[in-house]
Amino acid sequence: MPVEFTERSLLKYTQKVIELFRNPKNIGEMENPTVTTVEGDPQCGDMFKMYLKIEGDKITDAKFLSFGCAANIATGSMTTEMIKGKTVDDAGKISIKEIADGLGGLPGLKMHCAVLAYKTLKKAIQEYKQGKSGGDQTSSKGS
Ligand code: FES
Repeated sequence: MPVEFTERSLLKYTQKVIELFRNPKNIGEMENPTVTTVEGDPQCGDMFKMYLKIEGDKITDAKFLSFGCAANIATGSMTTEMIKGKTVDDAGKISIKEIADGLGGLPGLKMHCAVLAYKTLKKAIQEYKQGKSGGDQTSSKGS
């Protein structure tokens, strides 16, 4: 089997990934977010930025900017859709598997793109909780 065919097979995206890549949800900057967090992926060098608006411990809005690939954009869309309306604690319980399952799966080589969105969410929640408890107020904390 030619190598080219094998690589293409490994990178086959689901219809949901393609749909969310072509028409991403919640992409863009947010005015006056409660938390803004950036995370990078050392594997590919891409960046992911997440904005959360939190009111009374509920995530009322979530947006993102992706400096990554199609899988990352689709994952950002799925992650922000899944957490909107959830409490901060419930959003923190979402697993990487749930996010990937929401996309109908991801090629193995692209799982790190989903992990990048997931890690950014976890970091945003951690920073929010630290700020609330009077902990370290990082520079990524929104106004
Ligand atoms: S290859 Fe970098 S986020 Fe997908």
